[in-house]
Amino acid sequence: MSEILLEAVDLTKHYGSVEALGGASFQARAGEVTALIGDNGAGKSTLVKCLSGAEQPTSGRILLEGEEVHFDSPVAARRAGIETVYQDLAVAPDLDPAANLFLGREIPRKGILGKLGMLDKAEMRRQAVAEFEKLGVELQSTEVSIGSLSGGQRQSVAVARSVAWASKVVFMDEPTAALGVRQRERVLDVIKKVRDKGIAVVLISHNMPEVLSVADRVEVLMRGKRVARFAGADTKLEDLVAAMTGALVQEEAV
Ligand SMILES: Nc1ncnc2c1ncn2[C@@H]1O[C@H](COP(=O)(O)OP(=O)(O)OP(=O)(O)O)[C@@H](O)[C@H]1O
Ligand SMILES: [Mg+2]
Repeated sequence: MSEILLEAVDLTKHYGSVEALGGASFQARAGEVTALIGDNGAGKSTLVKCLSGAEQPTSGRILLEGEEVHFDSPVAARRAGIETVYQDLAVAPDLDPAANLFLGREIPRKGILGKLGMLDKAEMRRQAVAEFEKLGVELQSTEVSIGSLSGGQRQSVAVARSVAWASKVVFMDEPTAALGVRQRERVLDVIKKVRDKGIAVVLISHNMPEVLSVADRVEVLMRGKRVARFAGADTKLEDLVAAMTGALVQEEAV
């Protein structure tokens, strides 16, 4: 069994009177894909936001490699090696795909120009094209703004950015929702490659065949709490559905 890299213990998150998380626990392991599943509104995105610094939990603990951490922003989480593809695709619509890939990590020009804040756009573009190629992202041009790409192209750029930088954990909140069959397969291949590098991949998906094909473990959320967890190749679709609908609750998972 591989080590627990990131762990949430008893997280709560309240938005006013709405309880999005009601004592949720979660674990992600190095070199494994953990699927996080549950019905609409179960709290999956909220949990990911709390673990990636985009939101602050109301209470509870987050442990990275056994040490308690507090990420006060996504930048803090990224510094710790945690990358996220958000469900609402936090890309900068006015920048081109290469600039989005390097957002916050721009490569300066060499020498004095770099010191003056000039960026090495050619180098960033070259590396970006290589990353996009790995994912099979076909862009008519890398010089257009992200806002003018299709939803699926935008999603692929967000996935490319996360896998290019993640060193410990990558959260993907429905990364294939807008993708066609071919692009979806490429993203799943990339997920497996990233996992094989020893990174903990957390995949949120409503697509159960996709979950069963790629996940080493599955954790199920219902109304802001973990209600079940499954491991290994013998995980059955019926069990996942039963857990998501509340027909099956594993007391030890809560
Ligand atoms: N910013 C917010 N303000 C108020 N309520 C919120 C906010 N974000 C989430 N919620 C509420 O918290 C609950 C959990 O939402 P969340 O987005 O985490 O669910 P989810 O499991 O990701 O669902 P989906 O599968 O539809 O993406 C929902 O009831 C939602 O309405
Ligand atoms: Mg969500």
